[in-house]
Amino acid sequence: MSITVEPVKPQIGGIVHVSPDHLLDEETIETVRSELEKRGVLVFPQINVSDELQLAFTDKLGDRVNFTRQVPGSDAETADVYKITLDRKLNSEPDYVLGTFFWHIDGITIDQPLPKATVLSARKLSASGGATEFANLYAAWEKLPEEEKREIEDLTVVHCVEAAVRPVHGHPSEERRARYKAMAAVMEQPLVWTHEDGRKSLLLGTHADGIVGMPGPHGRALLARLQQWAAQPDFVYTHKWKEGDLVIWNNQGVMHRVVPYTDEGRVMHRTTIAGKEKPGHKADEANVERIYQIA
Ligand code: OGA
Ligand code: MN
Repeated sequence: MSITVEPVKPQIGGIVHVSPDHLLDEETIETVRSELEKRGVLVFPQINVSDELQLAFTDKLGDRVNFTRQVPGSDAETADVYKITLDRKLNSEPDYVLGTFFWHIDGITIDQPLPKATVLSARKLSASGGATEFANLYAAWEKLPEEEKREIEDLTVVHCVEAAVRPVHGHPSEERRARYKAMAAVMEQPLVWTHEDGRKSLLLGTHADGIVGMPGPHGRALLARLQQWAAQPDFVYTHKWKEGDLVIWNNQGVMHRVVPYTDEGRVMHRTTIAGKEKPGHKADEANVERIYQIA
């Protein structure tokens, strides 16, 4: 065995012990695949991958995806490595990076299969803040009282970028709103996603802006309550980074956020693995209109 996985908490988290030389082994890839389903998030402490090795690991797990436009600072060879940083020299769109302060699922407002997993490696840490929290949305569903499960099981949620960045900007300008509209879709996603293997998880996050068929405040109140439920300590693993750590999470069953930081020196390198399952579709305009009515 060149790989072992040590559970962190009963509901979430695993520490993976494997040498970088064995990162691409079939045994490693198979173990990572199955442990991601069980543990939601896996940490490779101080494995110190290069961009090339991170991309090779990403490619072994599935199709590489880059749903963020190419940003200044990304060189041609590693254009699929997205720099998560407040340093404008490396990332000219800090809006998105600031959006990571709030619970979210990567790529949920794009009309494509939901990205399967995200790989993030720590290149430079912040002086303060910057721990990343992960909440298991399978556990959040499973542990709900049966009565509540029945009440929410068939609900549909509208997700949009505008909601995702509302806590970043407060009142975005008209120009900014038009830009958000152009760059992503308004999506309808099931609140409770039944995956192809039959397991169920919640789909939640700051990008969730209302529930189809409910007036805005009713939907948003229920979403806020569920988000708070899903973020309870038993379902959450907080990763306090060390330089060189690599973390991979099951983006189809986990939401995440980072503890705010201001340090422009923090740099994380992100790669994304495409999903095959597409729980949602573009939103129906009448449904969207409804969630912006208050009664
Ligand atoms: C991301 C993300 C959190 C972090 O890369 O998608 O949310 O800790 N990052 O930077
Ligand atoms: Mn993210």
